[in-house]
Amino acid sequence: MGTEENLLFQKENGVGIVTVNRPKALNALNQEVLQGLDKLLDEIAADSSVKVVIVTGSGDKAFVAGADINEMRPLTAMEGREWGRLGQAVFAKLEKLPQPVIAAVNGFALGGGCELAMACDIRVAAENAKFGQPEVSLGIPPGFGGTQRLPRLVGKGRAKELLYTGDMIDAAEALRIGLVNKVVAAEELMAVAKTMAQKIMSRAPVAVQVCKAAVNAGLEMGLEYGISYEAEVFGLCFATLDQKEGMTAFIEKRKPAFAGK
Ligand code: CAA
Repeated sequence: MGTEENLLFQKENGVGIVTVNRPKALNALNQEVLQGLDKLLDEIAADSSVKVVIVTGSGDKAFVAGADINEMRPLTAMEGREWGRLGQAVFAKLEKLPQPVIAAVNGFALGGGCELAMACDIRVAAENAKFGQPEVSLGIPPGFGGTQRLPRLVGKGRAKELLYTGDMIDAAEALRIGLVNKVVAAEELMAVAKTMAQKIMSRAPVAVQVCKAAVNAGLEMGLEYGISYEAEVFGLCFATLDQKEGMTAFIEKRKPAFAGK
């Protein structure tokens, strides 16, 4: 499976671990990383041996400290738009990946880094993690989905405060406002993310994927249509072996052995 030096990928017991690996630049996202991630996501989507994905950053200081400011500085307006579209497309691909994705946020998650974490399904943060959208200090708004995903996660008022002030918040505050799901000691971060991944993997895979698709699609289509979409996919799951196995195992008072079919 494809690995670039500044983007690492390893498989461990069904968990695919994606690591942004530019520690000297606090894992800032340059074009090479974004293009590598785009390609890697296609490979992961097609790899049925990867059940859950974890996204993290190299080292103990940063998850991702944003898009690469050196690369952005000389851009023209048209190039800026293309740059934004590239990041948006890659993060949309991540958000729609069939497998569940956990962000293990091991330090600074700023700008494009906060946006990367928000494109994941679940965020687990180390106590030393810091979040923010500091783009307004650089003369730009967030460009990889931050103006859209942040209010969807934390609400309009809190999102606007973070976007307008560019303030950094710590992990405890991120937990309080719902930007992260869980905060753990830095040395336990990967273990907690992997344990969560294993728990998700022990559930019926098709049902988990359907939950992801229904939440993602439903939030874009309004309650009435979202609810009817749910009825369709709920019904469809009765055609899976996993539904037969899950309900039979319950009745027989044993653990289910899901086939993912
Ligand atoms: N792009 C490029 N390089 C970056 C970077 C970034 N986003 N963030 C950090 N680096 C580099 C620094 O330039 C520095 O490089 P040198 O050693 O060559 O000087 C190295 O990483 C270490 O950083 P610092 O010395 O600044 O470390 P610090 O501990 O003093 O500060 C920090 C840490 C507060 C995270 C600080 O690095 C910082 O503010 N970084 C920029 C954060 C930011 O503004 N992110 C948003 C970018 S814009 C964006 O992401 C747009 C979008 O939505 C798509």
